[in-house]
Amino acid sequence: MARYIIVLGTQWGDEGKGKIVDLLTEKASAVVRFQGGHNAGHTLVVSGKKTVLHLIPAGILHPHVHCFIGSGVVLSPTALLEEITFLEQNGVTVRERLHISAACPLIFPYHIALDKAQEMALGKGALGTTHRGIGPAYVDKVARRGLRLSDAHNKKNFIKQLTQVLDTHNFILKHYYKAPPFTVDQVMDAVFPALLEVLPLATDIPLRLNQLRLQNRSIVFEGAQGALLDIDHGTYPYVTASNTTGGAAATGSGFGLLYFDCVLGVTKAYTTRVGDGPFPTECQDETGRFLVARGQEFGATTGRQRRCGWLDLASLKRAIFMNSLTALALTKLDVLDELSTIALCVDYHNEKPVYENLPGWKISTIGIREFSKLPPNAIAYIRRIEQLTGLPITIISTGPSREDTILITHPVE
Ligand code: GDP
Ligand code: IMO
Ligand code: MG
Repeated sequence: MARYIIVLGTQWGDEGKGKIVDLLTEKASAVVRFQGGHNAGHTLVVSGKKTVLHLIPAGILHPHVHCFIGSGVVLSPTALLEEITFLEQNGVTVRERLHISAACPLIFPYHIALDKAQEMALGKGALGTTHRGIGPAYVDKVARRGLRLSDAHNKKNFIKQLTQVLDTHNFILKHYYKAPPFTVDQVMDAVFPALLEVLPLATDIPLRLNQLRLQNRSIVFEGAQGALLDIDHGTYPYVTASNTTGGAAATGSGFGLLYFDCVLGVTKAYTTRVGDGPFPTECQDETGRFLVARGQEFGATTGRQRRCGWLDLASLKRAIFMNSLTALALTKLDVLDELSTIALCVDYHNEKPVYENLPGWKISTIGIREFSKLPPNAIAYIRRIEQLTGLPITIISTGPSREDTILITHPVE
C-alpha cells in the first residue's frame, strides 16, 4: 500500500492509463498530470458513459478528488477550456477542484502551425505527431522565451512578450516553411479570452502538493504517453517532446523525489503504436488487423488507426528498470480472447524479436472481475509475464469499464 503513486505507460502510449488512474483515484485525495499536453487522450468508461480526457487528470469523475496540472505540462488554454466546458455540461464540477501551475508553458496557434509545417517539410520522414503544437511549445520553454500561464496577469507585458516571440516564429513560418504568419491580434483574439477564464485556477502546485502530503493524503501521479515515447529514452526521434518516464513525476509537479512509494506500469496485453517509427513486434498481417478491430485501436486524440503487434517483454524490462516499476497493471487482456496462439517477444537476436508461443484460451474473459474465473491459459499468460519480468501483475483489465477489472491489490492506502 502506498500514498504517492506514479502511474506510467510502459509502451508507446494508449495502454489504458486513464482507466487505471480513474479506478485508483477512487481512494485518493488528488491526482496530478506532470508532462505532455493535449496530445494525450485518456478514455474512461463509467456506468456505460465514455469520457475522453486530454489535459484534465483522470480522477475528475470522483467528486472528492482534487486535480492538479503541474508545470511540466504544456497548456493550451483553448483546449483546456473546451474540456472544462464539456465536463461541466455533463454535470461534473471542475473549476472548484482543478488547480493549474502558474508556471505552465502555454501553447498558441503558431505552435500548432509550426508543428504541422515541420511535419509537412519532413515528408516521408515525418514523426506522425498529433499536430497539437506540443514539440514547438516545449522548444519555446527550453529556449526560455515561451509565455507561461502567470504571464497573463499583466496583459501589457504579455503582449510585449508575445510580440517578441512571434517575431521569431513568423520569420521561420514565412521564410522557411512558406506558411502564413500570425498577427499579435490574431493570437490574442484566439487565446486570451480562454486564458482569462483559466487564470483563476493558477496556483503554486508544489506548495499545494506538499500541504496534502503533510496531511497524509494519498496522491496519484498520472503519466501521459509511454516509456518508449520518452524524449531521452524512447525511440528517438520518433518520440514526444517530454520525459514520460518516472523522474518527470517529480520534476513536472514539484513533488520531492523521495516521497514517492509506488510506480505502477500500465502495460497493454499486446502492443500498439500511433505515429511513425520503429515497432519490431508489429504484425502487418491478419493478426494485426484482428487486434485493430477487436481492440478498437483508433487514437483517442486524433482518431488515427493504431499499429498493432505482440507484447515486447525485452522493451518492457527496460521500462521496468528505467522507471523502478514496483508492479504492473495488464490491460486489454480480453482483446486476445479469440486467438489460438499468442506470441510473446522474450528477447532480441540480431535486432529481430525472439518469440515464445503460448496457447490462447479461445473463451471470453470480457468483464471478468475475479482472478480465479480466468481461463487457465490466460492465467498461464499472466504468470509467464510475471516470471519473465520479475514483477507482480496486481491489476488486470478485462474491458473498458471501470468495473471490468480484476483488482488483486489496490495500491492506494
Ligand atoms: P491511455 O491513453 O493510456 O489512457 O489509453 P486510451 O484511452 O488512449 O486507450 C485505451 C483504450 O482501450 C480506450 O478506448 C479504453 O476505453 C480501452 N480499454 C481500456 N482497458 C481496456 C480493457 O481492458 N479491455 C478493452 N477491450 N478495452 C480497454
Ligand atoms: P496517451 O497519453 C500514443 C505520439 C504521436 C507521435 C509522437 C509525437 O494517450 O498515451 P507529439 O504530438 O507528442 O509531438 O507526437 O508521440 N503520441 C502518442 N501516442 N498516445 C499518446 O498519449 C501520445 N501522445 C503523443 O502519435 O508518434
Ligand atoms: Mg491515449
